[in-house]
Amino acid sequence: MSKPYGITVSRHIMDSQRLHPEATGDLSGLLSELIVAAKTINAEVNMAGLADVLGMAGKTNIQGEHVQKLDDLANNTIKRRMARCGYVCVMTSEEEADIIPVAEGSAGKYTLAFDPLDGSSNIDVNVSIGTIFSIHRRISANDLTPQGDEADLLQKGREQVAAGYIIYGSSTMMVFTTGEGVHGFTLDPSVGEFYLSHPDIRIPERSRYFSVNEGNYNFWDNGVQRFVDYLKENDKETGRPYSARYIGSLVADFHRNLIAGGIFLYPRDNRNPAKPHGKLRLLYEAAPLAFLVEQAGGRAITDEGMNIMDIEPTSLHQRVPLVIGSRHEVDLYEEFVAGTR
Ligand code: AHG
Ligand code: MN
Ligand code: MN
Repeated sequence: MSKPYGITVSRHIMDSQRLHPEATGDLSGLLSELIVAAKTINAEVNMAGLADVLGMAGKTNIQGEHVQKLDDLANNTIKRRMARCGYVCVMTSEEEADIIPVAEGSAGKYTLAFDPLDGSSNIDVNVSIGTIFSIHRRISANDLTPQGDEADLLQKGREQVAAGYIIYGSSTMMVFTTGEGVHGFTLDPSVGEFYLSHPDIRIPERSRYFSVNEGNYNFWDNGVQRFVDYLKENDKETGRPYSARYIGSLVADFHRNLIAGGIFLYPRDNRNPAKPHGKLRLLYEAAPLAFLVEQAGGRAITDEGMNIMDIEPTSLHQRVPLVIGSRHEVDLYEEFVAGTR
């Protein structure tokens, strides 16, 4: 990793804003508030082994999963801060069944979708976790209702104005895009500032790695099975076999592939016909990472080859099969699924 050379994330955001004389500063304000929330979560995550925050909170969330205490903490930290910041009109979170209204009198012109803590099964075992966010412009008329509504949140990934994540890893990093490339900032915990450490990230065009939960192999469609079989075959000329890297925190798997190159897959699983859409959620996992990967030169599609950015969401917690990463490998995957290989 290159050493931070002194450009703080706030300075970077202000400099980018200056390139757009029409900008009001609201997006910059929103991002700054999010960064404060991220630093707060980071402090909690770092204390996780010491403070009494580990373990189950003793309830299940809308997805029927166990909510961990840190999930709750992260969710509340973002929710409370962003509800009063004046830049957001409505929010949705993985941990909340319904839309999250903002405080009275503080509705702004953006919407926020977030996964407060991604990879929560890894919290108790000291493996990287993250926070993912996605920002859209409000589309409902604010002279009719002071708050935004669900339709404001159910917009395509293509309409995002910003997206990113904070990864709480061996160091804490924030990686985001506002549609002008992808930039990475590393937190210097002694100062409490994120410094630009990875300007203009480009995902390697071709890679040597694949990330998938192969425990589900028997339940995948044939095209997905054949693709993964292919990656594991021995053929020096085409760089095979690929190496497997699967962390089980989407943010961490994605971040690794973004920097080192690779393809991540969470395809549909034929075990449960009632849930034909894989595991990951469109609004606060797949769409923001799709925006990032496209900005970095990679691709994100469904297991059937549809561009993630073009999916019209129909519900807040909609799931979507996800194939994302280096261009060459996603192109290759498409050939297997189309049956041309
Ligand atoms: P979350 O912790 O926000 O619920 O997300 C967990 C997700 C994602 O981070 C990861 O890629 C995936 O679950 C791992 O699923 P498997 O354990 O089925 O491989
Ligand atoms: Mn998640
Ligand atoms: Mn989560």
